[in-house]
Amino acid sequence: MPAEAVSLSSVAAPNQVVFVVDFGAQYAQLIARRVRELNVYSEIVPHTLTADDVEQRQPAAIILSGGPASVHVDGAPRLDPGIFDAGVPILGICYGAQLIAQQLGGTVGRNDQGEYGRTTFSASADRTASLLGSDVPSSQTVWMSHFDGITEVPSGFVSGGSTPNAPVAILECDERRIWGVQYHPEVVHTPHGTDLLRRFLYELAGCTPTWTMNSIIDTSVDAIRAQVGPGRAICGLSGGVDSAVAAALVHKAIGHRLTCVYVDTGLMRKGESDQVVETFQRSQGIELIHVRAGDRFFDRLVGVSEPETKRKTIGELFIRVFEEASGGIEDADFLVQGTLYPDVIESGTADAAKIKSHHNVGGLPDDLKFKLVEPLRNLFKDEVRRVGSELGLPDEIVWRQPFPGPGLGVRIIGEVTRERVAMLQEADAIVRAEIAEAGLEREIWQAFAVLADIKSVGVMGDERTYAHPIIIRAVTSDDAMTADWARLPYELLETMSNRIINEVDGVNRVAYDITSKPPGTIEWE
Ligand code: XMP
Repeated sequence: MPAEAVSLSSVAAPNQVVFVVDFGAQYAQLIARRVRELNVYSEIVPHTLTADDVEQRQPAAIILSGGPASVHVDGAPRLDPGIFDAGVPILGICYGAQLIAQQLGGTVGRNDQGEYGRTTFSASADRTASLLGSDVPSSQTVWMSHFDGITEVPSGFVSGGSTPNAPVAILECDERRIWGVQYHPEVVHTPHGTDLLRRFLYELAGCTPTWTMNSIIDTSVDAIRAQVGPGRAICGLSGGVDSAVAAALVHKAIGHRLTCVYVDTGLMRKGESDQVVETFQRSQGIELIHVRAGDRFFDRLVGVSEPETKRKTIGELFIRVFEEASGGIEDADFLVQGTLYPDVIESGTADAAKIKSHHNVGGLPDDLKFKLVEPLRNLFKDEVRRVGSELGLPDEIVWRQPFPGPGLGVRIIGEVTRERVAMLQEADAIVRAEIAEAGLEREIWQAFAVLADIKSVGVMGDERTYAHPIIIRAVTSDDAMTADWARLPYELLETMSNRIINEVDGVNRVAYDITSKPPGTIEWE
């Protein structure tokens, strides 16, 4: 039987929802997060949203995102005009504001020049701008990114202020409850941006700030109970934050009817397996099957050094081992997965070119017998972390850096052997400990060690050495799609280098990887 499509009943969606209509801007997710930070639940919806959808779901407000298109080009995305008459408060941002102007009878012109970055907004002299409210200064720094601009407001609308290249930077019609803003209130470079969003949500749209950690947990627990009923569920734990929080939530909902499976591939970081067992079995009291499968993985990896073959070998064996372990759990017909909201949003977009075949528990085959429970399906990563902390998971797990499914296997260039994994585990533990010691753990997206399969000559004491180099990789990133190499302080690099060479047998040289992504990838294989 194929895995069933996700049942929405496992997803907690509160009654009050704000729709963020995605016009293709990189900012739609950011807007949705900002709304949630103001404790109002938001969902990103496609711009093909219809007045009927609005009628059915009754959102408390609608925010139109910015977008890369010009309202003037053929086929530029537009909003179903019926939505303007649905009586739901609307806020258009950038492209969204221009659409309001254009679709309701105003004019959007091409400015002489675009406006990108910081600029100064000046409120209209009579301060008619109800979107701004009275608490923010009439002149303020705002962040712009537009070429077109509104030149004439539609009938019934007023202009709330301007910037040097946007004669109408705010447009509003209190009567129709439609507002627009040309600048980006969602970015941190607009210091009073949050005030504007707060004003729109709370005062103009009448939303109440009820999307709190407690409400997220309560509604999730109710939704999981409703979906699983008296059934049993299993969850593959990877040690990462997503599967950990998903498991903790499901455990809160159905207790001992959840069994977790932790496949120890032998390719985990130093101390990681112990910590997973300690946290889930001992502290959280979750039933855990700890499969020590290291020998099987090392046997299978003999002679495998080509990166894609290595990934495939590890991925396939992982699935086999997981199936064997979970097959013994009688009556389990639900599988818990830590899918996050950005994965859900992005899965709708065209496939990017495949650079590497990723493996995680989410790569389980279609013919698995389970129905999926995905309690994090509408949460952003920062919300998942807060839920994890609230549920009592330790910081080491809640703030754990991303770790690839194939583990250290893809950080060892060439053949993966027990000895080489042990060597890398020691070096990697030093890198991570020093990053933590320097207080950089949450600033750095990932920091780890890579073991190369070359040797170089060195001298230690009076002895010539001929041994392996360790490469330190540390990157900053927001989403792993792009990344920059972290400008770690020299002193920190020096400490890492000294410790690795002194403490890890078989290493006589340390290099620092100064490649961004692109052109490099974060992992080495
Ligand atoms: P790359 O190396 O493609 O990695 O720049 C981007 C992000 O994905 C992580 N990664 C994986 N995660 N299974 C995973 O769950 C995988 O097979 C895998 N490979 C890479 C990587 O650590 C980085 O955060």
